[in-house]
Amino acid sequence: MGSRLKVLGSTTSTQDEARALAEDGAPEGTLVIAEEQTGGKGRLGRKWFSPAGKGVWMSLILRPNQPLQDTPQLTLLAGVAVCRAVRKMTGLDAGIKWPNDLLVDRRKICGILLESAAEEEHVRYCIVGIGISVNLDETDYPPELQGVATSLKIASGTTVDRTQLIAAVMVEFETLYELYCSQGFQPIASLWEALSVTLGESVTIKNIYGDEVHGVAAGISAAGALLVDMGDGRQVPVFSGDVELKR
Ligand code: BTN
Repeated sequence: MGSRLKVLGSTTSTQDEARALAEDGAPEGTLVIAEEQTGGKGRLGRKWFSPAGKGVWMSLILRPNQPLQDTPQLTLLAGVAVCRAVRKMTGLDAGIKWPNDLLVDRRKICGILLESAAEEEHVRYCIVGIGISVNLDETDYPPELQGVATSLKIASGTTVDRTQLIAAVMVEFETLYELYCSQGFQPIASLWEALSVTLGESVTIKNIYGDEVHGVAAGISAAGALLVDMGDGRQVPVFSGDVELKR
């Protein structure tokens, strides 16, 4: 993982750079990193704040031999990889909010965006986009993100070496991806559950159309969906949306 590297100064989005490389046949494990993104993309069509020199903005090309419907599993795998790397490097008590937000002190420090290309419902490639807010100060954030987002520096009180963090994430990713390719999703789901701040909580999940599901987050399905216990004996699988933890 990361043995082929493209390092950019400023770019619109590492997702777009990685997609162009993947379409040109770049092998699995190719990593694109940028100092700054001028059009960073988040989930559900949102923008991702990616200022110069302050974060890890990167996209990894994967070529898993699997049906398209299994790709949510890779989002969860990526969350576990980043969470483990952050915990090891900073000692912070980072947890994962389904599906892919890394939280410290209930504030977001990392987001993951998985985009896939498929042919006849079989994956051609996936681009795993990882954005980690590393050395941002409170004043770097635009008003709408203050109090919602945080950074490793704000949470730990020290500057974090971004190169070492990228290497740590790649080591974790490679270990977990090998496990996933050899033993399937179950061991990854168990690791995800152990790091989750969502399971056992009362949640409201809104999807892109504004539909809401209310219940208790009960577990992860075999496909990587969040199972929501509706309180009437039904467990509903939810594949995408935003979780609001009710505490
Ligand atoms: C989210 O939480 O909404 C996902 C954010 C993903 C951001 C990363 S930064 C690197 C890569 N390039 C992008 O444009 N987005 C992802």
